[in-house]
Amino acid sequence: MRILSGIKPSGTLHIGNYLGMIRPMVESQERGELFCFIANLHSLTTLFDGPKMARYSRDALIDMMALGIDPKKSVFWLQSDVPEVTELTWYLSNVTPVGLLERSHAYKDSQAKGIPANNGLFSYPVLMAADILLFQSNFVPVGKDQKQHIEIARDVAIKFNSTYGEAFTIPEPEITEEIAIIPGINGQKMSKSYDNTIEIFATEKAVRKKIMSIVTDATPVEAPKDPDQSIIYSIYKLFAAKEKSLEMAQRFQEGGYGYGDAKKELFETLWNYFQPFRQKREELAANLDYVEEVRRQGAAKAREAAAVTMKKVRELVGVI
Ligand code: ADP
Ligand code: TRP
Repeated sequence: MRILSGIKPSGTLHIGNYLGMIRPMVESQERGELFCFIANLHSLTTLFDGPKMARYSRDALIDMMALGIDPKKSVFWLQSDVPEVTELTWYLSNVTPVGLLERSHAYKDSQAKGIPANNGLFSYPVLMAADILLFQSNFVPVGKDQKQHIEIARDVAIKFNSTYGEAFTIPEPEITEEIAIIPGINGQKMSKSYDNTIEIFATEKAVRKKIMSIVTDATPVEAPKDPDQSIIYSIYKLFAAKEKSLEMAQRFQEGGYGYGDAKKELFETLWNYFQPFRQKREELAANLDYVEEVRRQGAAKAREAAAVTMKKVRELVGVI
């Protein structure tokens, strides 16, 4: 069983990224063959700053290793180190109906906002289909917002297989319902684009500040509160041990428990949760030769797997 997922290096990681995709991905190393990559080519659709792009890519490699991607257990690489993916994107482009891409959320959003889309953004889902299909992936763990992309990958695979003959495994999305969408500090979906994130590797001061600014209602301290209406609790319960989160729920319901206290509890829990990861990150950042070696070996393994698919695909499309 092959599990594949990628993450775009478009800035600093937040706890929504962690719970929505990174943690499930790290856990999947134990139950199957994990293929995991940094999707730097995808970032190019919206990021037009070379030095920044290079920095984000290196940071993303380090972040993912710090958060538990283990090169001994999984194949881990930088997307652009495997050029087969852009070749496959072209073959897939020719069996992808324009209508399918016109319905994709990212493109529709840019249209709705009146932002002129470039061709890269428009065909983003084809590149993503190539990522997935190149490695004959069975499962793709992602957040809910990526579900449509996986559906497009399935449609494209089916279309290619029926046009040319069986070349691709049809992938399945894997979405953990209970943590499908992590709220940000203002209650909207946590996202870089909404400036409402809690970053994983920010300084203690910055993380504390973010948590203390979580939006709350005007219920007085003494009054009982519904924990499920609180952003603080909905983040807390995803990180705290079961007894601890039951305890916080009870305190909310009993009243006499202020939002400020709950925020402090959330800060402590998050800070401790990420402590070992912060330490690992520092070690890796001080040993970039090792990170580069992992990257090189990962790409070599990924290209080996890609070659098997590409041989078949080239034969089927008649590229000799
Ligand atoms: P952002 O919205 O901050 O730009 P990305 O779009 O780069 O984040 O998301 C990277 C991955 O993290 C995706 O698989 C996405 O589904 C997941 N993800 C991002 N935000 C959340 C969230 N608030 N809740 C759950 N998963 C999320
Ligand atoms: N589009 C995904 C995101 O925005 C990243 C990504 C690129 C990806 N290729 C992928 C995810 C293949 C899963 C599988 O986060």
